[in-house]
Amino acid sequence: MHSHAYNTLDPVVEARVAELLGRMTLDEKIGQLNQVSPMMYVPPAPGADREAPPTFAPVPGVEEQVAAGAIGSIFNVADAAVVNRFQRAAVTGARLGIPLIVGGDVIHGFRTTFPIPLALSCSWNAELVAQTARVAAEEASAVGIDWIFAPMIDIARDPRWGRIAEGAGEDVCLGSVMAAAQVRGFQAADLGTGRRVAACPKHFVAYGAAEAGRDYSAADISEVTLREIYLPPFKAAFDAGAGSTMSAFNDIGGVPASGNRLTLTQVLREEWGWPGLVVSDYESVRELIPHGVAEDLKDAARQGLTTGVDMDMVSRAYSTHLRALVEEGRVAPAAVDEAVRRVLRLKFALGLFENPYVDEDRQAAFQLTETSLALALQAARESMVLLKNDGGLLPLTPGAQRLVVIGALAESRLDALGCWAFFGRAEDAVTITEGLRAHLDGAGPSFVPGYALPGSTTIDLDAAVAAASVADVVVLVVGETQDLSGEAHSRAFLGLPGRQQELVDAVAATGKPLIVVVMTGRPLVIPRLEQQATALLVAWHSGLRAGQAVADLLFGVASPVGRLTASWPRAEGQIPVYYAHKSTGRPAGGDGTTQFVEHFRSTYLDLPNTPLFPFGYGLTYTAFDYTDLKIAAEVVGPDGAVSVSVRVTNTGARAGLEVVQLYVRDLVGSLTRPVRELKAFARVELAAGETRVVSFAVPVSDLAFVGVDQKWRVEPGAFRLWVGPDAAHGLEAGFVVRS
Ligand code: BGC
Repeated sequence: MHSHAYNTLDPVVEARVAELLGRMTLDEKIGQLNQVSPMMYVPPAPGADREAPPTFAPVPGVEEQVAAGAIGSIFNVADAAVVNRFQRAAVTGARLGIPLIVGGDVIHGFRTTFPIPLALSCSWNAELVAQTARVAAEEASAVGIDWIFAPMIDIARDPRWGRIAEGAGEDVCLGSVMAAAQVRGFQAADLGTGRRVAACPKHFVAYGAAEAGRDYSAADISEVTLREIYLPPFKAAFDAGAGSTMSAFNDIGGVPASGNRLTLTQVLREEWGWPGLVVSDYESVRELIPHGVAEDLKDAARQGLTTGVDMDMVSRAYSTHLRALVEEGRVAPAAVDEAVRRVLRLKFALGLFENPYVDEDRQAAFQLTETSLALALQAARESMVLLKNDGGLLPLTPGAQRLVVIGALAESRLDALGCWAFFGRAEDAVTITEGLRAHLDGAGPSFVPGYALPGSTTIDLDAAVAAASVADVVVLVVGETQDLSGEAHSRAFLGLPGRQQELVDAVAATGKPLIVVVMTGRPLVIPRLEQQATALLVAWHSGLRAGQAVADLLFGVASPVGRLTASWPRAEGQIPVYYAHKSTGRPAGGDGTTQFVEHFRSTYLDLPNTPLFPFGYGLTYTAFDYTDLKIAAEVVGPDGAVSVSVRVTNTGARAGLEVVQLYVRDLVGSLTRPVRELKAFARVELAAGETRVVSFAVPVSDLAFVGVDQKWRVEPGAFRLWVGPDAAHGLEAGFVVRS
């Protein structure tokens, strides 16, 4: 995919920026740093249809302020005519005619809603993920969105945090691959609209480290962790061409991310030399006040701008106070100029000065295309993860068993869409029952809601049990509605919401084989359900074609290929549980240290440390065997690569796709190292009985970590290496890096 890059300086653009900047007044400059949402969300009336699209009302006065040159950017307007109206005010009304840059939260598709990003990452398929981003950019740019507030690339190791849904899970290596793929897709050079789109990777930075999984809460992490876990996906996104980022809400070790000199200036500018634009998150500059580091909005404006936030989203701190701060000598004019330069740079690079308006006819003629829906189907199929399949119950043969579908989520269109499908429409979604019916020539399956949405607090056990009793197999669809994950939607209990577990218990008591389909925006805590299920498929919230994908997988028209990208805990008390944890001085698997009469180890008295399902885990409809792990040279130099090969055989009777995963452990470091770290993976499709030798060459430079001096280094010494199907298994070998 050929993509545009906005992460470098172009001399032609720089000359245009300098020329324009030279003609701007201080107020015009401040206007460029002011981002406003011209439409406000109108909450639905009580009792309104939950599947009705959201409604928005205009905020008065915005057009006039645009015409006065007081606003540089608007966002979340999904209407070409409205965008053009504001753009006309900027281009023909304001003295210098600087076009607006129009932002939008296009997190997992625009009208073609794709699986939530957490689900998509389970495909481990970067090319597919890039394609979904490209389609999203094409559809969004058709209504005039030039700047997509995505990808969300916050590493997340706490499933209580509702925004785990928006990212690629717990791992730095996979997260970086997915970050770069989405940037490439959003910034694709061949959009049919003829317009360009810029990605805005977010939230800079460490937002996913929210204490206790509560949204917006502190990230009290070390600088080493910041650099080693949370920053790399951003570096990957910038290296892939991203020219903007969004500063986060959280504080990092006491310094809010939207007033943080270390991350915004030292890392971005001085260490990485990145010339991109930093926009604050929604009012995150004003929020320096409740954080308790700014006295008032003026102080917040000063801190935001001087630490490195170029554009102020919504809080109007800059538009209200920057002029006075400059006049009082508390903000240097050069700092304002630098921020404006970054805004103009992106506007020029996107071609907005030449092409400010969007073609309204294109929006009027918009239709979901077969190609984008086919991609939505593929994405949904590849995102779903099969966690259990006792006795090979799946795949089913259409018509061979009497099926009953139980669970209101099976008929919910809205909940198929997911937490951030602002621009998607429930009416476009295929439900699970519709998907199944399509395979059964319209003959069934029978359906019983079992519980009422939303809330799932009302259940109908009798109807469910009666239906299950006359079926051969029950498809039980349970999980979260789409409004239980996403921003400001953290949960403390991660079991099935409402009374769904009671329903499961009653249906399980019939003794019928249970195919449990879990729709969810996060890893859940479902040890009891896992025991009760004969087969367990995680369908997530997988977009417009979720229902069809579930049916295709259950009937074996497609085979499961997804692998988890975030661990599923056994209990909330284990959280955070992630595979790349540290060893401790008294490791769980070791002898511990005998103190008094006991072996003291880093364990729980009442649960194993391991998750219910580890990172990387997922079943297929076949089985794979690993043999002959070989390392070409057991001693490698600092500039070399570790060359590894393994034989993978499909030992089952069906074709299948294995995600071969390579992990390492640095045995002795100057700082403690994770017990395993993913360094490479390969998706390998094998016919029944087929064997393939899979090879990897891991550059020694990829074994680097951040030392006490905050610098990346590879330390010579012994390493262990595993190649296998997930983070808990694999063939093992060792190698040495020499100095
Ligand atoms: C979210 C961002 C989003 C922004 C604009 C904020 O509340 O944290 O992810 O891009 O709103 O809608």
